[in-house]
Amino acid sequence: MQAGVAVIPTAPERVRNRDSHYPYRFDSYFHYLTGFGEPEAVLVLVAGPVPQSILFCREKNPEREVWDGFRHGPDAARETFGFDQAHPIDQLDEMMPKLLADQPSLYFHLGADSDWDARAVGWLNGVRAEVRNGVTAPGAIQDVRALLDEMRLIKSAEEIAVMRRAAEISSAAHRRAMRHARPGRYEYEIEAELLHEFRCSGSLAPAYSSIVAGGANACVLHYVDNGAVLRDGDLLLIDAACELDGYAADITRTFPVNGRYGAAQKDLYEMVLAAQAAAIAAVAPGAGWDDPHQAALQVLAQGLIDFGLCAGSVEAVLESGDYKRFYMHKTGHWLGMDVHDVGDYKRGGQWRRLEPGMVLTVEPGCYIRPAGDVPERWWNIGIRIEDDVLVTGRGCEVLTAAAPKTVREIENLMEAQ
Ligand code: GLY
Ligand code: MN
Ligand code: MN
Repeated sequence: MQAGVAVIPTAPERVRNRDSHYPYRFDSYFHYLTGFGEPEAVLVLVAGPVPQSILFCREKNPEREVWDGFRHGPDAARETFGFDQAHPIDQLDEMMPKLLADQPSLYFHLGADSDWDARAVGWLNGVRAEVRNGVTAPGAIQDVRALLDEMRLIKSAEEIAVMRRAAEISSAAHRRAMRHARPGRYEYEIEAELLHEFRCSGSLAPAYSSIVAGGANACVLHYVDNGAVLRDGDLLLIDAACELDGYAADITRTFPVNGRYGAAQKDLYEMVLAAQAAAIAAVAPGAGWDDPHQAALQVLAQGLIDFGLCAGSVEAVLESGDYKRFYMHKTGHWLGMDVHDVGDYKRGGQWRRLEPGMVLTVEPGCYIRPAGDVPERWWNIGIRIEDDVLVTGRGCEVLTAAAPKTVREIENLMEAQ
């Protein structure tokens, strides 16, 4: 920041219906900088010769604490979390104009929330009202996220340790799902097995809505109904993972409901697995962001041609985009506190280079809906294989390797049940 004042509020509590709330989830930026998990809190960072970290939070309230639980209050929050100052949240609007006086910039998440935008305008007008007393108002509003996104993109050793654990728990959940799947069970029963593993391992919640999609449902990319019965002979696509201490995992596995891949299923599965292997092999420091995607596309295009699902050369299929009928998403995204984590994918018009400490997903797939020009053996097969990959000094490490993914590994695990 060099100089200026950054203001980073946490997320609000949200009503679900009447007086019931959604489970509370802090704002990722706020939590990244503070570790403070209570709602109604704002971090103010003053840069310059005497840097200050200032927390605004709820006051102690013995009566509310009887109903809703512990609140730190400013004094204990300052002590416990190491802020330079802490004040009651009610004092934010009164103190902000003073904190912004004679500062060159306000660093803020402008445009993310209209209520906060209005409050920021109020603080700025509060300083401007003092200019005749010799005070200078900030001349610039800058997006604080631009700075934080770059920080969050490169994970520290501590963050990697948490993500490794989130990946392990999520891998165990996929193994559990494979053990419990069989014809006649419902998608939501398997979802419950995933949640069981998450919660029993200390995770508070899934990192995103679990996708448990049997048969044709796997061709709906964001299927979340999870209400259908699992049928003999179908595949089951599960895209589910936990959040642990604010960090997400993101895993997809696709396996046969009855424990044995059919011939067409196996052909397509091996193709997607080979595409994923090629993509993971392309993850290394210095590689371009898009290299894994291009590596996956080469394998997928060749496979679709071999299976008669696309026609022409690999180059022609890639050039025309004919493959998009069966593979319509990209091969990955940044992963971190948010499942689709922050960070630019391009720099100066070029795909950015991978660096040690970045974590991304590698998730090629293939989804075949019924159509007159598609042989029936492929109909309603939807496959995705997704792992979480850490860029290391020399190459990469698959954090989710404990979730089985070869045909043999999966069939062996399911046969043992
Ligand atoms: N589960 C969300 C994704 O794979 O991007
Ligand atoms: Mn993903
Ligand atoms: Mn996913």
